[in-house]
Amino acid sequence: MTEKKAGLSDAMKEKLAPRKFVKNPINGTKHTLLISSAKGGVGKSTFAVNIAFALQNIGLKIGILDADVYGPSLPKLIGINEKPQSKDGKFLIPIEKFKAQCMSMGFLVDETTPMIWRGPMVISAVKTMTEKVLWKDLDIIIIDMPPGTGDTQLTFAQQIKVDGAIIVSTPQDLALLDVKRGIEMFDKTGVKILGLVDNMSFFKGDDEKVYNIFGKGGVEETAKKYKKKFLGKIPIHKDIREATDKGVPLTQSNPNHEVSLIFKKIAEIIKQDFQ
Ligand SMILES: Nc1ncnc2c1ncn2[C@@H]1O[C@H](COP(=O)(O)OP(=O)(O)OP(=O)(O)O)[C@@H](O)[C@H]1O
Ligand SMILES: [Mg+2]
Repeated sequence: MTEKKAGLSDAMKEKLAPRKFVKNPINGTKHTLLISSAKGGVGKSTFAVNIAFALQNIGLKIGILDADVYGPSLPKLIGINEKPQSKDGKFLIPIEKFKAQCMSMGFLVDETTPMIWRGPMVISAVKTMTEKVLWKDLDIIIIDMPPGTGDTQLTFAQQIKVDGAIIVSTPQDLALLDVKRGIEMFDKTGVKILGLVDNMSFFKGDDEKVYNIFGKGGVEETAKKYKKKFLGKIPIHKDIREATDKGVPLTQSNPNHEVSLIFKKIAEIIKQDFQ
């Protein structure tokens, strides 16, 4: 009697194998850059819009995608209060502001509507914004990520072709712990980290004295430890906050402001990296 070997059929093996994701590129752009941080409130969105216009100022055609489905901030940061149109009922036309193509969940829902969604709905919203938006002839699309290492981050890391990520942090120990988590997530999922940015790095008073409100040097040290590029320090500056509150990013309204010039330097590093 021949013994039948116990084992899984090929079809079953395939079902159980770790899923290999196909990474789809975002159509209509040459490059895709994530602005991320595992901790909330460190200035990702502020950095994202300012670096976007710093890139525009050095000649790149930009798009900005606000991937924070639960707490979209692009409508406010860039002063957009209109709904995107669709000609065929399938694809959305991004809203153009200051010659930047923009898309956010916040354009589609009322500002005060809370998004009470489960993971699969978030993933589906992210896929809609990356696959069903008619981005056109962009050099680079800047993606403002939500905080954490959740569904949105995983969707981008596993299912969307991304050229690089920038991790924003403050120099505070609490934030740095999360940076390490963020670095490990991108390293594990094979997303290239272009570098780390130290936001709210210091405050310069009217007396020209420098105050290290959130601590000093931690982001640069973390970059060194993980062998990542340190991209620069952005101070806490009233003009950054005021400009974004008005819906006009500082690098757009005042490209020669001392802080805009810091963004310009970082933009040049990004441009070089993507060449
Ligand atoms: N360099 C800066 N100088 C002054 N204010 C800043 C600076 N960076 C960010 N802010 C302010 O800090 C607050 C938080 O910034 P922002 O919303 O960009 O953070 P975030 O990381 O995107 O937050 P979330 O995790 O909720 O998405 C905002 O009020 C913003 O105006
Ligand atoms: Mg944000």
